[in-house]
Amino acid sequence: MALLIRDAREDDLTRLEEMEGLCFSVPWTRQMLHSQLPDGQHVFVVAEEGGQVLGYVGMMFVLDEGYIANVAVDPAARRRGIGRALIAELLKRAKALDLSFVTLEVRESNAPAIALYAGFGFVPVGLRKNYYDSPKENALLMTSILK
Ligand SMILES: CC(C)(COP(=O)(O)OP(=O)(O)OC[C@H]1O[C@@H](n2cnc3c(N)ncnc32)[C@H](O)[C@@H]1OP(=O)(O)O)[C@@H](O)C(=O)NCCC(=O)NCCS
Repeated sequence: MALLIRDAREDDLTRLEEMEGLCFSVPWTRQMLHSQLPDGQHVFVVAEEGGQVLGYVGMMFVLDEGYIANVAVDPAARRRGIGRALIAELLKRAKALDLSFVTLEVRESNAPAIALYAGFGFVPVGLRKNYYDSPKENALLMTSILK
């Protein structure tokens, strides 16, 4: 089935909230997700297959800086290239917005996500000590320079 990458909408929020619960130990609330919907400061795209949202990525941007806030793929749909398709679209949007760089935080132990980002040229640039809760863990700061 074909994968459709499109802007997130208000009527995706119930599914996005459900996916947060499936993918994260400290899930975002509906309100937080709502605040990330596409506008002049946010890119938020979803990957849809057969009418079902299977993944999403959100980025906040200010001036020429982008910050990836959230990336998730349904556990049942992982390792099929959906995460890669989402990051590719996000970076395409970031370039179209003329951003200079995109940055993000990721749990130090999150090898799948770190490998995904590294594949797109994100490099480790720093560490935020005890940034995450449940469990407490350092965040690795990664950046991709676009220009
Ligand atoms: C990280 C995540 C989004 C990856 O999504 P995905 O759709 O499974 O990723 P893809 O199939 O597109 O994989 C792309 C590449 O990422 C890397 N990768 C993905 N999953 C991996 C795993 N379990 N182990 C090692 N590398 C992995 C590989 O380099 C992979 O390329 P390959 O399949 O050709 O080897 C997904 O695992 C997820 O939702 N995790 C939970 C939420 C999360 O941690 N989000 C990131 C927060 S910062």
